[in-house]
Formats: sequence, structure tokens, C-alpha cells
Amino acid sequence: MIKPGQLVMLVSPKGKRYFRVLQPDEVLNTNDGHLQMQTVMEKGFGGRVYTHLHRPYTVIKPTLYDLIKSVKRQTQIIYPKDIGYIILKLGVAPGSKVIEAGAGSGGLTTALAWFTGDHGRIYSYERREDFTALCRLNLEKIGLESRVELINQDISSGFAQENVDALFFDVRTPWDYLEHVPSALAPGGPIGFLLPTVNQVSILLSAMQNRPFSSPEVLEIMVRHYKPVPERLRPQDRMIAHTGYLIFARLNAPDPDMDHPAPSIGEQEEKYAE
Ligand SMILES: C[S@@+](CC[C@H](N)C(=O)[O-])C[C@H]1O[C@@H](n2cnc3c(N)ncnc32)[C@H](O)[C@@H]1O
Repeated sequence: MIKPGQLVMLVSPKGKRYFRVLQPDEVLNTNDGHLQMQTVMEKGFGGRVYTHLHRPYTVIKPTLYDLIKSVKRQTQIIYPKDIGYIILKLGVAPGSKVIEAGAGSGGLTTALAWFTGDHGRIYSYERREDFTALCRLNLEKIGLESRVELINQDISSGFAQENVDALFFDVRTPWDYLEHVPSALAPGGPIGFLLPTVNQVSILLSAMQNRPFSSPEVLEIMVRHYKPVPERLRPQDRMIAHTGYLIFARLNAPDPDMDHPAPSIGEQEEKYAE
């Protein structure tokens, strides 16, 4: 039995996915006919329910991957492969407070809200009103909107928050806004960026050199899928070869010892003591 208010994914015979926050008196209208949510509740996860036209739908508990893939998009969204690493590098966990610059359709917002839980807070800045509305709609569809403060504002005027645990930029010219980071991010806090071209990465690294950032990292993540056929196991013919470059660093605390400044970006190699 699924409880009212729980999120379910209903998969049609052709693989189309519908997401619903369960309300027992609701009816889902699909191309295959009507589905009673009361029946879905009673059947439970993994079960099969039938529309009034006798078409079978499978009831699934969605994973975060499913939710990100379901985001209705009018902008490029960050791919799950990149989001996984971003979450780890930013240290996003239950209770975290995170600023996201460039909410777009809300792909990354969904993941941030998922991990920070009811006691965390995501502050998502988006300058376009239509994208802000779309992001809100995407979050409402899966019941995560209460964890996110959507701020329909250009980040050129800075951030209203102080001492957040992490900050992520997914905007075209993040170097224009670096001056606003120290007043918003906690000293030592992680900062991340996604940029689609190496030219942008170069400009960003140059801009960071003159600012209080350390421990830089630049990378890209490639995922190669395989055809799941046991007797002819080999890679798929096509792959998504490029999404974006990821850049991470740490914000230095204000340092009054100007005779011995912290190493600037580019001079440090990552080493962990054993
Ligand atoms: C590529 S989209 C972000 C996609 C998002 N990360 C996702 O996973 O769905 C970049 C967004 O940044 C917004 N943006 C660009 N510059 C901005 C600025 N200065 N202030 C606020 N938003 C900005 C754009 O309007 C756009 O919606």
C-alpha cells in the first residue's frame, strides 16, 4: 500500500513515464485511458494496474535519476552524470544551504532539493521570468518546491544570502560575478561551475587567479553505455560525447597575512595525506 502524498512513477506499455504525488481521489488521464489513483495506492510499488481500456501500467518508486530525466526543459539541463560529481564535490547533504546561479529548467535544482531535505535550503537565482516559472512547475510536479527559494533576479546585483555551504554557477559568464562570492559563501566553502567550452574555462581560471580561490580542479565526465545483450556485449553505437566542463575550487578565508599569501589558483596539486 502506498501512502497518500508519496511520489509515484507510472510507466505505460510504450515506456512513457507519468509522475504523480498520490491523491487517492485523483484520476490520471492517459492516451491509454483513465487510471484510478486509489487502485495505484492499493497495488503498491512494483505492481501493475490497468486503465479503463485494460492497458497495463507499472507502478514504480522513482529514483532521482528518473526525476531529472523527467524535467520539462526549455534550456539545456545538467546531465545526471555531471550532477552526481557536482553533489559530491559541493558536499551537498541533508541540512545544506546552497546557492545555485542559473536555475534554468531546474535539472540541478531537483537534485540539490532532493539531497538537502526538509531542513536544508536551496536559493536558486534565475533572471528570466519564464524559466523561473518553469523551474517552479517542475519542482511542484514532484513535491520538492518547499525546499527551494526561487529568486527571479539577475545575479549581477549579488546574492542576498551569507555563509551558505556551497555555491554553483551554471551561467555563460560566471567570471563577471566572482566578486559576489566571498560575501555569500562560507570561508573554505566549495564552489563549482559548468561551462560548455574550453575558451570559457580559460577565461574563468584567469579571473579566479586574482581572487581568493584555491584547490582548483577542471574535468569532464564521459559515460559510455553498453548494449545489454549477453552474447554480443559491446558499447552502444552512439554516445553523448560532450556536455560541459566542470570546474571546482574552495573559497579562501580573508587573509590579513599579506606577506605570505595563500597559493593562487593553478599552483596547487591535489594531494591527500595518508
Ligand atoms: C543552462 S541554464 C541552467 C540550467 C540548469 N542548471 C539545469 O540543470 O536545468 C542557464 C540559466 O542561467 C540563466 N542566467 C544567465 N545569466 C544569468 C544571470 N546573470 N543572473 C541570473 N540568471 C542567469 C539563464 O537565463 C538560464 O536560464
